[in-house]
Amino acid sequence: MTSTGHAPLLVASNRGPLTVVAVDDGDDEVRRGSGGLVSGMQAALSATPDAVWVSAAMNDRERSLARQAPGGHVSELPLVAEALNGDFDVRMLPIDAQTFRNAYNGIANSTLWFVLHRLYELPTQPSFDANWRRQWASYVRFNQAFADALADAAAPNAEVMVQDYHLFLVPKMLRDRRPDVRIGLFAHTPWVAPDDFAILPDDVQLALVDGMLGADVIGFHTQRWADLFSATARAVAGVEAKGVRVFPLGTDADEMHRLAGRRSVDSALRVLQDVVGDRLLIGRLDRTELSKNVYRGLLAYRELLRTRPEWHGKVVHGVYNNPSREDLPAYREYTARIERLAAEIDDEFSTDEWTPLLFEIGDDYPAALALLRRTDVVLVNPVRDGMNLVVLEALVLSERDPALVLSRELGAAEVLGDDALTVNPFDVTATATALHEALLMPLDERAERAKRMRAAAVALPPVAWFQAQLDALA
Ligand code: G6P
Repeated sequence: MTSTGHAPLLVASNRGPLTVVAVDDGDDEVRRGSGGLVSGMQAALSATPDAVWVSAAMNDRERSLARQAPGGHVSELPLVAEALNGDFDVRMLPIDAQTFRNAYNGIANSTLWFVLHRLYELPTQPSFDANWRRQWASYVRFNQAFADALADAAAPNAEVMVQDYHLFLVPKMLRDRRPDVRIGLFAHTPWVAPDDFAILPDDVQLALVDGMLGADVIGFHTQRWADLFSATARAVAGVEAKGVRVFPLGTDADEMHRLAGRRSVDSALRVLQDVVGDRLLIGRLDRTELSKNVYRGLLAYRELLRTRPEWHGKVVHGVYNNPSREDLPAYREYTARIERLAAEIDDEFSTDEWTPLLFEIGDDYPAALALLRRTDVVLVNPVRDGMNLVVLEALVLSERDPALVLSRELGAAEVLGDDALTVNPFDVTATATALHEALLMPLDERAERAKRMRAAAVALPPVAWFQAQLDALA
């Protein structure tokens, strides 16, 4: 294919910066997409107005919007333009609903996400059967649709920055279509050891690794994930992967302060403060996501209250969950399970004077930011996580120099080093003990540690993270 497009810089990701949902009266409402990829990329692109962000239309409303917009450029529609935070152009691909669902729910979220975070309950899952093969064929078509759109839109020698596991086949497909363009791939997820990756069917392992190796530069958040990918490429394809690089993504302190300084957040903070009073607050904010390990986090909090009754009446745990991937039964079951556990904890400990647990599922962003501003201890205990931007945001926003209880299976653990209380996320007792230590930590020690961790959290803000990748491509 020869070049026909004009875009010098393209970003491709499944989820785009905005999501269109139906509100109660049946009207469309445009909301900010959730998750680390969107937060980071949205901030990164604020400095590159000539960028085009190509994403998938993820529901019927988005598909019909994408079909209405000239060339799929939804950012030109007034509804979207108003909500967009930045000058870049957004193009949504109206891939047919069945192909999208198979690729997104079936392969990306139920297979690749599970492999890369080691979420399978192995005695019964996964089983790669004929139905799964149909989903895999959709994943291939989904990647082809992106490769076609990018090949079409890219100017000669353009730079194309492909994001995450939804699009692992795109680099090679695009290279075949457009040998002139420079291709970056960034994985926002962790990576796993070759033995864990070997769960996938052999031909699929090879297709994924080959697809990824089509990129000139393959980026990960940490050295650990980069090394595991290189080992996987060696085991699966027998090659030394070239261009594997580490680009840790930090947070943009000014932008976070701007968001958290709004009046809506101030009023949410007053509501929270009425409940918490002068008690210590352990806060966390996650998507309702299996890998985030809210379940064992709640078990640890229960064990803390059971084994150390001196904390009764003196501590509150605030757990805020943004609904995520609700089409997947495993996610709905997990959400129901953490809700039940939260209710049990409340039954066991709450009194007329003391609410030990504030557990919310919703998308009230001001309330979530208020929780981060008020928190004394941040609990972030995923079973595995590429980076985890929320912990960096919490460090920047907390007005109380928070102590951190942090999973060692987290990309951010590599960045925050020794100043966090690091735990094995499967070890509930160790997590309860770390919570106890965090609650006891003297304020001056908290302040010293938080200062160093804040510096690390903002060391590579999204704009610099993105620029470093463009420099590596050049
Ligand atoms: C993680 C992934 C992103 C994804 C986000 C939200 O951060 O790395 O690619 O966008 O989760 O998940 P969702 O399925 O809602 O896009």
